[in-house]
Parts: sequence; structure tokens; C-alpha cells
Amino acid sequence: MSEQPTVLVVGSINMDMVVRVPQMPAPGQTVAGEGFATSPGGKGANQAVAAARAGADCIMLGRVGDDPFGHKLRDVLIDDGINCDNVKTTPETATGTAMIMVDSLGENSIVISGGANLALTPDDIFPRGELFELADIVVLQLEIPLQTVRAAMDLARRHRCKIVLDPSPIPGRLPDELFAVDIITPNALEAEQITGMQTLEERVDRQVASMLVERGAGATVMKIGNRGSLVVSAEGEIARLAPYRIDIVDTTGAGDAFTGNLAVAVARGNSLADAAQIANAAGALACTKFGAQTAIPTWDEIRILMEDQQPQ
Ligand code: RIB
Repeated sequence: MSEQPTVLVVGSINMDMVVRVPQMPAPGQTVAGEGFATSPGGKGANQAVAAARAGADCIMLGRVGDDPFGHKLRDVLIDDGINCDNVKTTPETATGTAMIMVDSLGENSIVISGGANLALTPDDIFPRGELFELADIVVLQLEIPLQTVRAAMDLARRHRCKIVLDPSPIPGRLPDELFAVDIITPNALEAEQITGMQTLEERVDRQVASMLVERGAGATVMKIGNRGSLVVSAEGEIARLAPYRIDIVDTTGAGDAFTGNLAVAVARGNSLADAAQIANAAGALACTKFGAQTAIPTWDEIRILMEDQQPQ
């Protein structure tokens, strides 16, 4: 296992349009927001940034539109040292966008408009076998077409790379074949959507995480917000990792910081429990600043938090 693993992210690239609100509007309600900002995002791109800042060699495979957002988003990924040779520009298509409201507690609500992300097809994936040959681990999410996710899983398996799937956003029903991954990383709400069970207490958390393993995942690493994270593996490993206590500014992208760091830590040969603890620290730090990519911590910041604070 290498200290500097190669992480291949196949996924979305969005421009986030963010407004802060005192509270989320109810249906039919208008609320006055505060400030407006555009900020680089997209679950795939955020996870790529997390992996790169954790010290991995990172390759991004995705699509942007031929517009100012697309050019900007590609540039910021390159500035983070991410190989974007396979981020294609799609003519006559808008770059993916996300409308995000962040409330006074830092919680977010997100609506995405897929744009060029939806033009990423299996034909973009199958000729790129050499990237999967290079990669130690492949990271996937669900903001691109499901058949493209399946194609990436096929190639990853053919080239014996580990697969991490962040099942977000959940489509109506998660097809069975998408559980055939090494690690699935839902948050509590996504785990509830997949299983139909409410994860309000630790006993149910475990049951829900186990259900995802029973459906075929090698392990579930569930992000349970201010309760930390939970690991349940097919080998019977169960670990509950306590959260770090931080002042929350904006939770956007925290799950992506978690998943990107989890992938790097696993590729470096850490146990799942140790990797989830590192991911907890990364996710916590990502909540302390505004925005998605702008808030993703570096490995040094993660290391310092882990040295300074015992998770509780
Ligand atoms: O996970 C946060 C991300 O979800 C945002 O950056 C937004 O673009 C959506 O993809």
C-alpha cells in the first residue's frame, strides 16, 4: 500500500449557488436570504479535492459545459493538483449547478441541475481502462447516470481496484448491482431512504448498516452527523467512531470530505475503523468554513485536529 495512492473519481462537477437563510422555507413560504455566492462543488469534484488535499494522486473523470462555470471549475481542480485530462467539455450543454440554502445552524438543503454531468456516459468510461489500471481505489457517487456508475464499477473490478460508492443522491430505488462495492458510505438519511428504517439510535444504526452489507457491500461506513460514524463489514467488524466537536458554519461538502478521506486512508492500508476516524476529522473540519471545496481540509489540518482533540 502506497503513502501516496492513486484515487480515481468518476463523478459530478457543479457550480454551487449558495444563499444563507434564517430557516428553511416551508412549502409556499418566501424567506429573505442573506448574501449570495457561487462556489465550486459537485459531490465528485468535492471528493476529488478531499483526496488530493489528503495527499493522494487524484484523477477526475467527468464533464463540464462549454461555459464560464465549466472553465472555472476545471481550473480550480487543476489548481488543487488534480489530473483533469479526462474532464471533457460538453458543447451546447450547461455545467451542472446546485442551488443551496444554508440555515442558521449550518444545515443545508440542495437542489441539483445535472447539466453536463448527465452527458457522462459509459462511452466516456470504457475506453479509459488505463486510468483504472493506475488507480488503487475508485470513488463514485450518483450525480451522473446510473449506467455510467455501473460501467465504472465493471472496469474497476476488471482492474482489481477497490470501489467506494457514496450513494448520493438516492434514486427512487437503489438497484441491487450498485451494492457490489467494497465500501458504501451513506449518511443517515440516505441509509433510511435505502432501507426504510429510521436511524435514531445506535441499535437501529447497526441494523441499517448491516442491511446494506447483506445486500452485497463489503462494508458500510455510515455518516451519522453529530453522532460520528459507524463501520459494519461483511467480515463482522463493527466500530462506532465518536465525532469531533467543532463550531459549525456550513455542513455543505462535509460528507464529501469524509468519503474522499476515507478512500485515501483505506488505500493507504489503514483499517476501516482507523480510516473512518480520519474521515470523521475531515468531515468535522469541513463544517467549520463556508462552502464545499473551499472548506475541505488538508492532511495537515486533519492531523492537527486528531492530535489536539480526543473525539467524544
Ligand atoms: O455534497 C455537497 C454537494 O452536493 C454540493 O457541492 C453540490 O454541488 C451537490 O453536488
